Amino acid sequence: VKTQLLIPAAGMGERLGCDGPKALVHVAGKAMLVWTLARFEPLGLVDGAVIVFPSPHEDRFAAALDEAFPERRFRLAPGGPARQDSVANGLAALDPDTDVVVIHDAARPLAATSSIRASIEAAVAYGASTVAVPCVDTILESDADEWLAGTPDRGKLWACQTPQTFRVDLIRQAHERAAQDGTDAGGDVPSATDDATLVQRMGERVKLVMGTRHNLKVTTPADLEWAEWLLRGEESA
Ligand code: CTP
Ligand code: MG
Repeated sequence: VKTQLLIPAAGMGERLGCDGPKALVHVAGKAMLVWTLARFEPLGLVDGAVIVFPSPHEDRFAAALDEAFPERRFRLAPGGPARQDSVANGLAALDPDTDVVVIHDAARPLAATSSIRASIEAAVAYGASTVAVPCVDTILESDADEWLAGTPDRGKLWACQTPQTFRVDLIRQAHERAAQDGTDAGGDVPSATDDATLVQRMGERVKLVMGTRHNLKVTTPADLEWAEWLLRGEESA
């Protein structure tokens, strides 16, 4: 089973308030993308990985990757306006003989290698999987004016993470379907913030794989502080 890694890294970190691509923001002394990729070294997935970059910044990405992983080769693909577009561009850049694709956000530099491995095993067995963690917070639904509108049963709720891993034919089909849904009927289906949702919307099963709460997504300045603290702790361990 030929497995390839795809990293959507084309976001500009609006909520982080960074001046430039979020994936190149330094955390614990290295670019976030470098930490993220390093989680995949034990699985041999760094070499040949597809990195989706924000299109004006190809040179900076190529330089950062070359400096951190001089022995490894990457395929760089330009990103699109939304994450879904970026992943679609990345899927188009996979090697033609790839069977399984591991999609992992550049913004998650703390994925556990055991979760990555479990995600791949589940995708090989079932076709599609996502790492996720059971919600520990009670989730509130609000109306448009920020009044409590309802409280879903926490026992059924999971917080989505990445990696999400798929048989390549299945995820390509899901993205084609999503692109049609987005353009047909005046584009009323909002673009998805993850890929497993697109597969499930097609009526295909997606296996949930238990993640860890360390696998946070760096979204806000507070998240960056947490990531810094956790990564420094790993370094000194
Ligand atoms: N991403 C992407 N292409 C986009 C938007 C996002 O490849 N057009 C990637 C980001 O680089 C990130 C992942 O999708 O690795 C999750 O996105 P998010 O955390 O929302 O990052 P940003 O879009 O950069 O942040 P913000 O929404 O605050 O601008
Ligand atoms: Mg975003």
